[in-house]
Amino acid sequence: MKLLAGKNAIVTGASRGIGKGIALAFAQQGANVAFTYSSSKQAAEELEKELQSLGVKAKAYQSNAANFEEAQKLVEQVNEEFDSIDILVNNAGITKDNLLMRMSEADFDKVIEVNLKSIFNMTKAVQRTMLKQRKGSIINMSSVVGVKGNAGQANYAASKAGMIGFSKSIALELGSRNIRSNVIAPGFIETEMTDKLDEKTVEGWRQAIPLKRGGSPEDIANACVFLGSDMSAYITGQVINVDGGMLT
Ligand SMILES: NC(=O)c1ccc[n+]([C@@H]2O[C@H](COP(=O)([O-])OP(=O)(O)OC[C@H]3O[C@@H](n4cnc5c(N)ncnc54)[C@H](OP(=O)(O)O)[C@@H]3O)[C@@H](O)[C@H]2O)c1
Repeated sequence: MKLLAGKNAIVTGASRGIGKGIALAFAQQGANVAFTYSSSKQAAEELEKELQSLGVKAKAYQSNAANFEEAQKLVEQVNEEFDSIDILVNNAGITKDNLLMRMSEADFDKVIEVNLKSIFNMTKAVQRTMLKQRKGSIINMSSVVGVKGNAGQANYAASKAGMIGFSKSIALELGSRNIRSNVIAPGFIETEMTDKLDEKTVEGWRQAIPLKRGGSPEDIANACVFLGSDMSAYITGQVINVDGGMLT
């Protein structure tokens, strides 16, 4: 029996990287997947076909998670086309790194908007559907940087720490309606983006991790499958570090 059979999921920012891994793992576990992207239209269309070939319903939507109205419209469309929403994965995120001395107001605001405001937009948009269903699982993609902080990432760390406070509050507000809200804090995850980094530097990072390797999108996706499935029915308000032991 597939762990997510018959469930409908929204995954934001799934045209590449971790979000794509989550969309694929969800489809492999039987979930229908509505996913969003910002500008990677071709990659999104390819993923839509790949997901459909796994025998589930899948659709790509171009939608800016940072925009309140777009999030509302997205959820309306998904409700029409998929009938219900069982899982929301707020995965879309960006970085605009700099030391505070050089960080512009625009770069601070943008990161907060895309990473943090987006989860307000999306959670508010799915709330009514999940309340009516009296069930739902919300999974917010934070980072070990939100737990620990990181020099050169004050904007990103603030957004990711904010996600944790938001998520715990929603767990408290909506728990009585069987709506769960949890956070995943990935460590160093190797994606197309990190392929471009200097191999020696990356190897140094790997050796500093207790499990001696970077994580893969599948490592994060597996944790999302668990949190999205009924296997985690009694888990809410938690932060799960998926980091190879990095913060230990
Ligand atoms: N990679 C890591 O090591 C790591 C570690 C900890 C946490 N995380 C978190 O995990 C999440 C995914 O990271 P990643 O490395 O997979 O990122 P990525 O490869 O840069 O992919 C980001 C995804 O988000 C989409 N996106 C960006 N802005 C958006 C917006 N305003 N509205 C909707 N979608 C938007 C992008 O769409 P387009 O392709 O159209 O631009 C893309 O699909 C992020 O929240 C990140 O902070 C990553």
